[in-house]
This record gives sequence, C-alpha cells and structure tokens, in this order.
Amino acid sequence: MKKATPTKVPARLKRLYDLARRSREISYSPYSGHKVGAAIRTSDGKLYGGCNVENSSYGATVCAERVAIQKAVSEGRTRVIEVMVVTDSTPPWPPCGMCRQVIAEFGPDAKLHTANLKGEMESFEFQKIFPHAFTPGHLKKK
Ligand code: THU
Repeated sequence: MKKATPTKVPARLKRLYDLARRSREISYSPYSGHKVGAAIRTSDGKLYGGCNVENSSYGATVCAERVAIQKAVSEGRTRVIEVMVVTDSTPPWPPCGMCRQVIAEFGPDAKLHTANLKGEMESFEFQKIFPHAFTPGHLKKK
C-alpha cells in the first residue's frame, strides 16, 4: 500500500474512531491474539462497528471490516462512504485483500482511514489502494 502521511485523528472522525476502538475491545481473537476493530459510515450517516471474529477452524475467521459491512448490509444499508480500521500497530494495519474486495462492492468511492491506539491515522482514497477492482459492473458485460 502506498505510504500515507500519518496524522492525528481529527475531531470530525472522532465518533468513527471511538466506535472502531470500542468494537476492537470485544474482538474474538483467541488464536491470533490480534484485536482489530472497524467502523463504517453509510451514505445516510449511520455508523456500524465490527471486530474480527476468529474460529477454531481458522479459515472461518471473519475480519473486522467485513463484520461491520455485513451488519450494515443486513440492515438494508448498502452504500459505505467511510471506513476506519483500528489496531494496536505502528504503522496501523490496512484492510486485507478479501476485505478490499468487499469494500469495492459496497464502498467503491469510500475514504479509508487506518489508525492505532495512539491515535495515529493514515488516510487513503479506497480506489487508490484497490485499483482495477472486479465489480458488479463486470457481471453485466458480455
Ligand atoms: N484481520 C482483520 O480483522 N482485518 C484485516 O483486514 C486483516 C486481518 C484479522 C483477522 C485475524 O483475526 C487477525 O486479524 C490476524 O490476521
């Protein structure tokens, strides 16, 4: 991922960041020991949080970003405009490839923020970190 300049979480993003942090606290991650929290904003201004949910059958693990997005979609909100991911890491963790694919489906124009517990944050245009995505539009073309 292209390096971004770290900044401090601005006041505008405090609610999103706080929700991602709180979600991270309830992470179910007994196998990796890595707690991840995410929060998303949908086009109507609603916020949804999610944490990583691991499984003893490791491949059944779901990342925090996908949990947050699936919560929103399951409540009928399919347009994601902002994504925040919080880890206790420097630099903060970016979304994995599978999460990027899911963000491409519901938030292709989203702003992405990765942050850590020190409040350091890096921001990206999602399209810049996941160019040439496979999208619903491809299914419509012959
Ligand atoms: N994880 C996430 O929650 N989001 C990501 O984008 C990267 C990885 C989780 C999955 C697993 O529970 C732990 O972090 C270590 O990979």
